Amino acid sequence: MFGPVMSSSVALSLRCAASGCQGIRRSIATVISGNKTSKLVRNRLKEEVDKMTSQFSGFRPGLVVLQVGDRDDSNLYISSKLRAAAEIGIDAKHVRLPNTATEDEVLRSIMSINENPSVHGLIVQLPLDSVNHIDSELITNSVSPEKDVDGLSCINAGKLSRGDLSNCFIPCTPNGCMELIRQTGVSVAGKHAVVIGRSKIVGAPMHDLLLWNHATVTTCHSKTPDLPGQVGRADILVVGAGRAEMVRGDWLKDGAVVIDCGINHVPDETKAGGKRVVGDVHYASANQRAGFITPVPGGVGPMTVAMLMENTVQSAQRFLLRR
Ligand code: GUN
Repeated sequence: MFGPVMSSSVALSLRCAASGCQGIRRSIATVISGNKTSKLVRNRLKEEVDKMTSQFSGFRPGLVVLQVGDRDDSNLYISSKLRAAAEIGIDAKHVRLPNTATEDEVLRSIMSINENPSVHGLIVQLPLDSVNHIDSELITNSVSPEKDVDGLSCINAGKLSRGDLSNCFIPCTPNGCMELIRQTGVSVAGKHAVVIGRSKIVGAPMHDLLLWNHATVTTCHSKTPDLPGQVGRADILVVGAGRAEMVRGDWLKDGAVVIDCGINHVPDETKAGGKRVVGDVHYASANQRAGFITPVPGGVGPMTVAMLMENTVQSAQRFLLRR
């Protein structure tokens, strides 16, 4: 979609000239910037929205982010979604229900947003933060498939799993990962891709997306024996395991494309807040082996937000075509 966006000086591959290690590739990976790529996506979307607005007398794509409760991490994610939407010209609203809301109340709120014609995208921020038992699966499936810009309903997930990619909403994190892989110029078709994690939001849809882009895909999870062995066969590795720095550099195939979806907080007394954010990949060692790598922060995270905006604009375009 765009030309490569990566740090210029790091596309460096050195042959170790010292005796004893001739022929061993000592490389520093090319860093794939999610910050820069997401900025390009957001700029393009702003132009598309400006066009829609002038062509359809003030029309704007509408997005609702529904939150139950008040988790600090969700509040942060939501504010970056609202900021991106405002910048692009998407009319985004944050609807917050208290953590005492019942499943029925959440469902009623979703039904009313489903029926609102000025809303083209609806996401329910996960995880739900409730004192009551609320079935997240029931909640995500009650979002109208036509407004399900998170791509988490069974309808959209089913279409993706069958390869009906142009007729569904693709979940934002895997969609962002694909865009970052595209940035490397490495073609997915015919490659061996390994996905770590099988969550509905990252691992499972990532598997489908790579498969329908013609990779041979292995999906690993907590019961997979010999994870380092599986990782070592990956030309393309996508990690959404939720475990800080789990994947070590010496597991990697030389030159692999490494996409890290992890966001983990680890103690670090040298930092102001006493902690820092790391991915699921041990960056310092992986950087020595990978061909391309995403940083954390500044890799997949900003792409998730950009892809939510992309899905919302796409949903609004489909709405205009149906009118
Ligand atoms: N929580 C963390 N990431 C996401 C996301 O992409 N969508 C939703 N709905 N909740 C999230």
